[in-house]
Amino acid sequence: MNTSSDLRMTRIPLTPGPSKIPALGFGTLIPDPAVTITATRDALAAGFRHFDCAERYLNEREVGKALQEGLAAGGLAREDIFVTTKLWNSNHRPERVEPAFLASLDRLGLTYLDLYLIHTPFAFQPGDNQDPRDKDGNVLYDDDVSLLDTWKAMEALVDHAKCRAIGLSDVTLETLKPIYESARIKPAVIQVESHPYLPETELLEFCNAKGIVFLAFAPLGHGMKPGLLEDPVISAIAARIGKTPGQVLLAWAIQRGTAVLTTPKTAARAQENFDVSRLPQDAFDEISRIQTRQRLNPVVSTGVPGFIPQANSTAQGK
Ligand SMILES: NC(=O)c1ccc[n+]([C@@H]2O[C@H](COP(=O)([O-])OP(=O)(O)OC[C@H]3O[C@@H](n4cnc5c(N)ncnc54)[C@H](OP(=O)(O)O)[C@@H]3O)[C@@H](O)[C@H]2O)c1
Repeated sequence: MNTSSDLRMTRIPLTPGPSKIPALGFGTLIPDPAVTITATRDALAAGFRHFDCAERYLNEREVGKALQEGLAAGGLAREDIFVTTKLWNSNHRPERVEPAFLASLDRLGLTYLDLYLIHTPFAFQPGDNQDPRDKDGNVLYDDDVSLLDTWKAMEALVDHAKCRAIGLSDVTLETLKPIYESARIKPAVIQVESHPYLPETELLEFCNAKGIVFLAFAPLGHGMKPGLLEDPVISAIAARIGKTPGQVLLAWAIQRGTAVLTTPKTAARAQENFDVSRLPQDAFDEISRIQTRQRLNPVVSTGVPGFIPQANSTAQGK
C-alpha cells in the first residue's frame, strides 16, 4: 500500500525493470478530435505524465500532436512521459502485430513506446475493419489465432527494442494465468475496470504476488450518474476531508497500490484530478468496505467496448 501523503507523483516499478509507471494516468478515450487535443495538452500542463492511448480510439494523431506541442511548450523531453497504446482485436494475427504497432507509433509521432497492451483477449476477423460483423450484426471472431500466438508477437517487439514493456487489458484471472505461465516475457501491466464497486481483489492479489502492475480504468465509474461520484460513503468522505468525490476515488485507487486512468476534458478538471493526496486510513477502510458490486463495461466478456462510439474506419485515414 502507498503511504506517501502526496500521491500525484507516485511511480510503480515495472517488472522486468528498470522503468516505472506514473500511478496517475490520463486516458485518451475522447471521441471529439478537437477535445482530444485540448484535453491532452491540459493534462500535460496539469502534471500528468502517463498517457493511455489505443488504435481503437481513432485519435492517436491528435494525442501525438498535443504531446509534441505540450512537451516543447513545457520544456519537457520524451523520456519525461510514459506513453501506452493498444493492439486492437482485428490485429491479433502474429503477422499483423508489428505493422499495427508501427502504425500506432507513426500516428503518435514517437520512436518508442513505454507500454503496448493487447486491448482485449478476443481476436476479431483480421483486417482493417475494427468492428467486423455478419449480416445479423454478430461479431465475427477469429478462431485461428490464440492469445499466446499474439503474445509471442508482442514479445518480439520488446526483443527488437521497440517498446519497453508489454501487457494485457480486459482480462480475467482465468485468462491472465495461462499467459503468465507460458510467457517468456511476463506481462508487466494489466489494464482492467476497477473501482470500489468492482475491486477485483483476487486479480489484484495475483498481480501483487507476480509483480504485475494493476492499472484501473473507470475509477470514477465512467462518471455515470447515479453512480460512484454520488455514492453516500464517497460524498460524505469528500465533504469531511475537503476534497471532491473524484479526488477521493482516485486517491483510494492509488493507495491500494494500483495505477489508475482518468479522463478529465477541461483544464479545471485536469487540475482537480491531478491534485490527489492520501486519504486518512479510516476513510480508505470505509471505502474498501463498500458492498455494492457493479461492472460497467461488458468488454471483458465480449471484446466489444461498452464506451466507444462505433468505429469510423476513415477517421485515421485507414
Ligand atoms: N481497456 C479498456 O477496455 C478501457 C475501457 C474504458 C476506458 N479505458 C481507458 O481508461 C480511461 C479512463 O476512462 P474512464 O471513463 O474510466 O475515465 P473516468 O475519469 O473514470 O470517467 C470519465 C467520466 O467522468 C467524468 N469526470 C472526470 N473527472 C471528474 C470529476 N473530477 N468529477 C466528476 N466527473 C468527472 C467525465 O465527465 P466529463 O465528460 O464531463 O468530463 C467523464 O464522463 C479512458 O480514457 C481509456 O484510456 C480503457
